[in-house]
Amino acid sequence: MRTAIDLFAGLGGNTEGARRAAVRVLWAGNHSRTAVDTHAANHPGAMHVCQDLHQADWTQVPAHDLLIASPACTGHTPARGKEQPHHDAARSTAWAVVSAAECHRPPFLLVENVPAFANWQLYGAWCAALITLGYALSPVVWDAADCGVPQHRKRILIFGTRTKHPIELPTPAAPHRAIRDVLDFAAGSWSVIDRPGRSARTLARVRAGRRQYGDRFVMPYYGSGSGLTGRSLDRPIGTITTRARWALVDGHRMRMLTSGENCAAMGFSRSYQLPESQAKALFMLGNANPPPLAEYAINAIRRHA
Ligand SMILES: C[S@@+](CC[C@H](N)C(=O)[O-])C[C@H]1O[C@@H](n2cnc3c(N)ncnc32)[C@H](O)[C@@H]1O
Repeated sequence: MRTAIDLFAGLGGNTEGARRAAVRVLWAGNHSRTAVDTHAANHPGAMHVCQDLHQADWTQVPAHDLLIASPACTGHTPARGKEQPHHDAARSTAWAVVSAAECHRPPFLLVENVPAFANWQLYGAWCAALITLGYALSPVVWDAADCGVPQHRKRILIFGTRTKHPIELPTPAAPHRAIRDVLDFAAGSWSVIDRPGRSARTLARVRAGRRQYGDRFVMPYYGSGSGLTGRSLDRPIGTITTRARWALVDGHRMRMLTSGENCAAMGFSRSYQLPESQAKALFMLGNANPPPLAEYAINAIRRHA
């Protein structure tokens, strides 16, 4: 297995994982200009297209051994809130995988999404379409932490092979990495915890965290996260989302994780180029597939090449 294409390439977690697994990504597509520009800055050797992949002309895409795709997850994730019409459009992005596979019939497919992708009303029909094209499908749910990423992030990976039966894949079991490894206490802009205007909810979380972990810990700043108590720095952090979510507490001061820390907590190297805007960087990081998870998955499937 030597070449791949990356649909819905985003920041490039799958492309970076492929690069680490010595598979060359020839083509990457996404509809966001920022995503395409950032991907191109990190992977200049790939051909890039910026378009709605519902509209892609798959005959213009180079032949490849592995089709990798992370269709939009916004219509599947349980945290998506109230149903909105655009969720339907987002779910339909998965059909681009079928169109591309029908056109090119690559020997291998790798599709990544949130685990709730398998609850999609059309999941069975989508699988049936790929099976009709001759693929045996092996869906697994793996945690990026088991691939050495200092973050718990469960994702469904659907492997497609032209084998008679679905392939068996070894579950990752790397030692867990502590989030502490990627934190830099000298970086970022800190603020005093006990300042006027700080919400009572935040202060309650800090108190609970201190009781459990002492002076230094991470905690979700918004949402329910892992409850009120935060997390020890000695374990992987909880899932990184598209909005700034994790705060770092150090004694009397606190701050949100920096882009560099979020980048490292996603398993990208510190030198990976991100958009200048912190909000855009975090949005793309929160959408990405951690490169070590993609690398592990590609190495697992290539044993069947
Ligand atoms: C789950 S993210 C994939 C992230 C990517 N695997 C990574 O590691 O960064 C889905 C991506 O699909 C893009 N997208 C959503 N709808 C699209 C469409 N109709 N056509 C092309 N790209 C689309 C989004 O901009 C987003 O970057």
